[in-house]
Amino acid sequence: MATRDVPLFLRALSGEVLPKPPIWLMRQAGRYLPEYRELRAKAGSFLDLCYNPERAAEVTLQPIRRFGFDAAILFSDILVIPHALGQKLWFVEGEGPRLEPVADEARLNAIHTEADEAVLAPVIETVRRVKAALPKETALIGFCGAPWTVATYMVAGRGTPDQGPAKALFTREPELFARLIDRIVVASTDYLCAQIEAGVDAVQIFDSWAGSLGPVDFDRWCIAPTKRIVDAVRARHPSARIIGFPRGAGRLIPAYVKATGVDASGLETAIDRDFARNEIQSLVPVQGHLDPLVLRAGGPELEAEVAAIRAAFGSGPFVFNLGHGILPDTPIAHVERLLAAVRA
Ligand code: CP3
Repeated sequence: MATRDVPLFLRALSGEVLPKPPIWLMRQAGRYLPEYRELRAKAGSFLDLCYNPERAAEVTLQPIRRFGFDAAILFSDILVIPHALGQKLWFVEGEGPRLEPVADEARLNAIHTEADEAVLAPVIETVRRVKAALPKETALIGFCGAPWTVATYMVAGRGTPDQGPAKALFTREPELFARLIDRIVVASTDYLCAQIEAGVDAVQIFDSWAGSLGPVDFDRWCIAPTKRIVDAVRARHPSARIIGFPRGAGRLIPAYVKATGVDASGLETAIDRDFARNEIQSLVPVQGHLDPLVLRAGGPELEAEVAAIRAAFGSGPFVFNLGHGILPDTPIAHVERLLAAVRA
């Protein structure tokens, strides 16, 4: 492929320094879009939408049509992995995910050793459909949750403010917790490989709760399992492009990047910019880190933040994004202004 035919997003991931950074937004397919809310209302439950290839592909494409982002991200959820491992999963409207907690030996033994491919097949079909429909300048990103983050939901049965139940389990019964992590590693590896085979150009590993681990636990429960996934995916797909996002890990990110071998790192909003440029972007391309609250607020502060972020990271390989998912009450006009500012 001639360079001009390679999506800008992939050029940045390969280390190219571009005059204007490519941009996509975490949770860009979602409730801030009226067309998403309309389709979501027809789809029944959130999980029904995730497992309906026609609708999930449509939802993935909606923000591309409206805004022309440089990358689309597969519409699904990190919790389809516990679901495919045999754990009961449902979403409570307006609250979030619920699972039947796995917090003892008996419950762990009931979890499959490998993901049920039939559960994930519709998601893989969504990848194929989106890939076929995307313009050639738009990259497609697949994803999974990192083992630690997925385990926090599997153990607690829901989102928790401090990941207390998962921490209690790895403190009390580290061997049992390690077996749970092993199953998530195996399932996530197969899942990412299936996404790559179906056409995604890159994958992102979301470790949303990485920041709640101290350095020793971070090595054991974040870095080590992530490295196993990266190595195993690369063993099957040597040129796989993998973005790691250990959100909240801050000063531990350089060690994470070096040890896991990810191709790029997400940057949370709170990270120090000089540190991120000098210690992380010097190793790999970075992606982030606009505060979703600044995007929601809009106004001159939004433009000033975009300028500051571009000034901080524009001289190295960089993908513009948020530091966390877009908020559901973000005005569309602010996203339009963001795109104009990033592409000016
Ligand atoms: O970024 C995208 O647009 C792709 C799709 C995507 C979703 N979830 C769709 C979603 C991705 C990449 C995720 C990742 C995800 N899911 C994470 C990691 C990133 C993060 O946000 O920290 C986590 C922890 C989850 C688990 C999850 N899913 C929670 C805690 C919730 C409830 C909170 C909420 O925002 O409602 C979800 C639901 C969810 N996942 C929604 C969407 C669009 C909202 C459901 C709806 O439309 O009713």
